[in-house]
Amino acid sequence: MLKVKYYIEFQRIIRGDFSNPFSYYLINVSSDFKIEFMKAIVCNQFGLPDTLEYLDITAPEPEEGEILISVKACSVNFPDTLIIQGKYQFKPEFPFSPGSDVAGIVENVGKNVTHLKAGDEVVGFIPFGGFAEKAIVKAKDCFPKPKGMPMVNAAAFLLAYGTSYHALKDRANLQKGETVLILGASGGVGLTALELAKLMGAKVIAAASTEEKLELCKQFGADEVINYTKESLKDKVKEITNGKGVDVIYDPVGGHFSELALRAIAWKGRHLVIGFANGEIPKIPINLTLLKGASIVGVFWGAFAQKQPKESLDNIKQLLTWFAKGELKPHIDKTYALENAPKALEDMMERKTKGKIVIDMEL
Ligand SMILES: NC(=O)c1ccc[n+]([C@@H]2O[C@H](COP(=O)([O-])OP(=O)(O)OC[C@H]3O[C@@H](n4cnc5c(N)ncnc54)[C@H](OP(=O)(O)O)[C@@H]3O)[C@@H](O)[C@H]2O)c1
Repeated sequence: MLKVKYYIEFQRIIRGDFSNPFSYYLINVSSDFKIEFMKAIVCNQFGLPDTLEYLDITAPEPEEGEILISVKACSVNFPDTLIIQGKYQFKPEFPFSPGSDVAGIVENVGKNVTHLKAGDEVVGFIPFGGFAEKAIVKAKDCFPKPKGMPMVNAAAFLLAYGTSYHALKDRANLQKGETVLILGASGGVGLTALELAKLMGAKVIAAASTEEKLELCKQFGADEVINYTKESLKDKVKEITNGKGVDVIYDPVGGHFSELALRAIAWKGRHLVIGFANGEIPKIPINLTLLKGASIVGVFWGAFAQKQPKESLDNIKQLLTWFAKGELKPHIDKTYALENAPKALEDMMERKTKGKIVIDMEL
C-alpha cells in the first residue's frame, strides 16, 4: 500500500502538483529514506495499449518467499492485451504493469529463499509486472536460466512452451502417430504446440491466416497447412485425413473456427480449449461431442502451475532439457524497447506478429 502511495505522490511531484501535504512530507523526508525508482510501463486505467504510460515509479522490494530480479527481457503474450483492458480472468489493482514472462538477474531475495541468490540468471513467471526494469517473482515460479540461453529467448519460453506441453501431454494425452490440428499455428503458443507435437511423434496440420504465416509453420515441421481464411477448415481437414478427422485440436483462436474444427474431429478426439484470440467465445452444439465420442478439454497453464507445482516443475525441466539439446527453438519475430511496449501489444492485437515478440531492456 505504501509503495502505491509513493508512486501516486511521485507522479504529483513530477507534474509540479504540491497541493497534497503528503507531497511535502515525501520531499522533506526523502533525504533520510533511500527510495529506488525504475522505468515501467504503467496501466492506470483499463483501455487499449495507447492508454499505457511510460513512467518512473518506485521499485518493488522482495518479501518472504519472493525474488527481486533486474528484468533483461519480458515476452509479450496475448493475455497481456486482455489484462490492460480489464478482460482477463483477474483484474489487478491500479497502478500495475502488464507482462508475465520474464528473464533477468537476481538482485535480492526475501526471507526463506534458498535455491537462488543475487547474481543468478533466471527465468520466471508472474501474473503481471514484467514490463518494468525490476520485477518481483515468487521463488517457486523462478528457475535458473540454462547457460548460454539468450535472455530474449529465455523470456519467450515458460508460458508458451509450458502451456502447449501441458495441453498436449497432460490434457490431450497425445500419442505418437496421432494427428493434431493447430489453429493460429504461427502464433506464440501455436508455434510451440507445433514444435512439441512433432517432437512427441504426431502428424501436424497447421492452420493460419496468411501464406507467410503458413510458410513459417512449414519451416517448423508442419506436415500439412490450411489457410483458414481461404479454405474450408472442416472440408480440408477431412480431405487431408481421408475422412477420419483429427485426434487432437489445439485451439487458441476460438470464434467460428472452433465449431468448424470440432466438426472435423476423429472418433474419441480431444478439442483443447486454449484461448479466444479471435475475441469471441464460441457456443458449441454439445451433440457434436456425443456423435464422435469426443471431449472438449479446458487448459489453464497458470492454474495448473499453482495447483500442481510438482507436475508443472517436471514439465519445465523436460522443456529446458529439450531446449538444451537444441530440440526446441523459440521463434523471436521482433524485439521492442520497453518504452515501445504499447506498440508491441498493438501489433499483437492487429494479428501482425508470428511466434514470439519480446521487450528487450537492452534496446
Ligand atoms: N490457456 C492457457 O493457459 C493459455 C496460456 C497462454 C495463452 N493463452 C491464450 O492463447 C491465445 C493465443 O495467445 P498467444 O500469446 O499465442 O497470442 P498470439 O501470438 O497473438 O497468437 C494468436 C493467434 O490467433 C490468431 N488470431 C485469430 N484471430 C485473431 C484476432 N482477431 N486477433 C489476434 N489474433 C487472432 C492469429 O493467427 P492467424 O492470423 O493465423 O489467425 C494469431 O497468430 C490467447 O487467447 C491467450 O489468451 C492461453
